Amino acid sequence: MTEERGIRVRDLSYSVEGRQILHKVSLFVEREANRTILGASGAGKTTILKLMLGLLKPDAGEVLIDGVPLAGLSVNELIRLRRKIAIVFQGGALFDSMTVGENVGYRLFQDGELEESEIERIVLEKLSFVGLEDTIDYYPSQLSGGMKKRVAIARALVSEPDYIFFDEPTTGLDPVGVYNICHLMKLLQRDGKTTLMVTHDLATAFAVSERFSFIHHALLIFDGTREEMLRSQLPGIREFLEPSDASLFAVPKTPPGGDSHEAKR
Ligand SMILES: Nc1ncnc2c1ncn2[C@@H]1O[C@H](COP(=O)(O)OP(=O)(O)OP(=O)(O)O)[C@@H](O)[C@H]1O
Ligand SMILES: [Mg+2]
Repeated sequence: MTEERGIRVRDLSYSVEGRQILHKVSLFVEREANRTILGASGAGKTTILKLMLGLLKPDAGEVLIDGVPLAGLSVNELIRLRRKIAIVFQGGALFDSMTVGENVGYRLFQDGELEESEIERIVLEKLSFVGLEDTIDYYPSQLSGGMKKRVAIARALVSEPDYIFFDEPTTGLDPVGVYNICHLMKLLQRDGKTTLMVTHDLATAFAVSERFSFIHHALLIFDGTREEMLRSQLPGIREFLEPSDASLFAVPKTPPGGDSHEAKR
């Protein structure tokens, strides 16, 4: 069998305390296709990234990374496979007690495989990629929100991942901050990295992605191009693109589990 190049999610279901967060979600993140998963707050976007990384275990369904199913891997095999993927967490998740340089090099120091001078070289290289080499000795509290996100991107890059997940990378940033992050994502794509972003920010999604998936009430209801999404008449998508009074204080329904969606398998 030839190796599949991409991350496949098949019929993935996940619930918390009896509440269905994701229901039979199927998705293929093909290499270099630069996909964005859209959905309202609480739709399950961060959850799907954690499931794809093997940080959460699904109730049903499976995740395959380059054709390798996560289920059944030993802890060490999972760690090795996960090195293909890096995630820039929502909020950056930097360690406040460590300097920028220590944050960026953290994983390499933990691995203990490289000389300190080599780690320093890599840290500087990644920080200069995000334009922050001068902040190497700063603490996160001395940085703006946008700078923290860029440090988080530098940290994600030290292990030379093939796939980079971005969880809401532009939320809370001013227009220049948003532009910086979009620019970095496009540079990474040009370098052959596969970016998968989850966001509810349409402008960022359109700036950096060609493919879009849409999660609504635990279901993946759409998978396609920007034009297809803009033309879609699915109520969940229309409500997201053009909110109206009809969606005021709407209470999410239990997922129907039917096939009333436009997602292609
Ligand atoms: N550990 C948990 N315990 C209880 N509920 C949880 C837990 N993790 C997630 N949830 C719930 O699952 C749903 C999906 O959460 P998730 O964080 O994936 O949403 P999201 O789409 O990333 O939202 P946002 O855009 O606000 O980041 C939410 O309603 C959340 O309250
Ligand atoms: Mg989230």
